[in-house]
Amino acid sequence: MPKVTFITPSGTKVTLEDVGGNLMEIAQDHEIEGIDGDCGGVCSCSTCHVYVSPPWLAKLDPAGSSEKDTLSFDDRTRDNSRLSCQIELTKALDGLEVSIPAKE
Ligand code: FES
Repeated sequence: MPKVTFITPSGTKVTLEDVGGNLMEIAQDHEIEGIDGDCGGVCSCSTCHVYVSPPWLAKLDPAGSSEKDTLSFDDRTRDNSRLSCQIELTKALDGLEVSIPAKE
């Protein structure tokens, strides 16, 4: 099972080992600060917003139109922004690192 590192809005680095599946749900299950997932993963809230470390960005499946639309309404969006509810943590993403933006 892969591991993933979250860097929280307050700067704490949290690495989870042997986890997999939906990245937003993994964060919720481990009470990671700053990932709320208010819409339950249907791409309509952006409370699961993360910045993906550049080396990992190209390894993710491209964002779909709903994800792009939702991110377009978030003032914190950058080139490496993704919604964590749209990321499946698989073996291919073992070691993924994401930062969580501060709330507005
Ligand atoms: Fe709402 Fe990801 S949980 S957009």
